[in-house]
Amino acid sequence: MTQDLISVVLDVRDTPTRAALERVLKSVPGFAIGNPDDSGPADLLVMEIGYEPEKEFHALQSLLSLGTVGEVFLTSSKPDKDILVQALRAGAREFLSQPIQEKEFRQSLEKFIERRRLSLKEKKTSKSGRIISLVGSKGGVGTTTIAVNLAGSIIRNDHLKSVALMDMNLLFGEIPLLLDITPSYHWGEIARNITRLDATFLMSVLHQHSSGLYVLSSPSQLAGQHAATPDVMEQLLTLMRRVFDFVVIDAGQTADDVSLKVLEMADTVFLVSVLSLPCLANVNRLLRLFFDLGYPHEDNVKVIVSRYVKNTDVSLKDAERSLNKKIFWTIPNDYKATMSSMNQGKVLSVVAPRSPVTASIDDLAVTLLGKKSRDDGAGWGLKLFRRSH
Ligand SMILES: Nc1ncnc2c1ncn2[C@@H]1O[C@H](COP(=O)(O)OP(=O)(O)OP(=O)(O)O)[C@@H](O)[C@H]1O
Ligand SMILES: [Mg+2]
Repeated sequence: MTQDLISVVLDVRDTPTRAALERVLKSVPGFAIGNPDDSGPADLLVMEIGYEPEKEFHALQSLLSLGTVGEVFLTSSKPDKDILVQALRAGAREFLSQPIQEKEFRQSLEKFIERRRLSLKEKKTSKSGRIISLVGSKGGVGTTTIAVNLAGSIIRNDHLKSVALMDMNLLFGEIPLLLDITPSYHWGEIARNITRLDATFLMSVLHQHSSGLYVLSSPSQLAGQHAATPDVMEQLLTLMRRVFDFVVIDAGQTADDVSLKVLEMADTVFLVSVLSLPCLANVNRLLRLFFDLGYPHEDNVKVIVSRYVKNTDVSLKDAERSLNKKIFWTIPNDYKATMSSMNQGKVLSVVAPRSPVTASIDDLAVTLLGKKSRDDGAGWGLKLFRRSH
């Protein structure tokens, strides 16, 4: 889309309303009407509400707060007082009653153009978020603990970043437990409704945690769920990286087609291991598998040693020799802290702010954010060197 054109998405089901809106938009120069199936950001969203108001307003607020859409105009066939009040609270700029008064809509568009022109700096709505996938080399090594706390630490260290946390563990996803949330939806909904997938639908499926994290949980039962396919995953992640700065994925241990698609799309893959020979053997197998399949790029795959204690039978040096690869990060062992975090459904920084495991995951988040360490001022390279030796 040309940069000078103002992108408008019409999320409107009613055919005459849609036709009237299109007619006006085509008569005012400078607008490009996008397809509601386009997953990208839009300067203006015209949305019809009233079908499932609660869900729609929730999605609307999220879209505005994340900057995925610049402004929102609402329309409804039943403009009762409650809907109007909620629309204003949710941040809608205009409410268009039906049938559409074309003159009124044209004036609203002119005011919108003026607001845009006057704004000192045009709001940048397009993102190219970073996908970080954590893969366990064995069950119970701490993959979920790291994923949840890493996502939480990224947002705590930079409130301006939008962060999503996604659970790929079909049936056994534990993220809701660790965050003490009860999401109403999961990615099975997206797989089932893939033709509807756009930013509005995505935001209505995500659950916002009090920390600001957006959680996409996994189906906890198979009955009635549509299994995700690599295609579905590709569409979903493409959209998620446009909406969020960071997408942290607890990929668990599966190596099926869908997980491989996640790996292919990830900017960084963390392979989580502990210092045991069986686990390291699995890491080797996974590294070989990735290499044979041609993805992800070797440099993008990093090994994290979890539950690390010094002076074990297998040292970090032994591990590096057997993998022929540097250990990128170590997460110290602290069973008590991680268990109380799980049992209380609170992140480590709340339950055990002074534990070395909390500090280590926090440092990892700071590194991913490209910031320098807060405690010693050391840059990236120095920190990595210290952490892995
Ligand atoms: N750094 C750590 N130090 C000590 N114990 C830990 C650490 N991280 C996680 N644990 C403990 O290990 C167990 C498994 O943790 P977690 O669920 O995060 O691992 P996982 O690899 O995701 O497991 P699963 O294969 O079941 O998904 C939990 O009891 C947790 O408290
Ligand atoms: Mg897990």
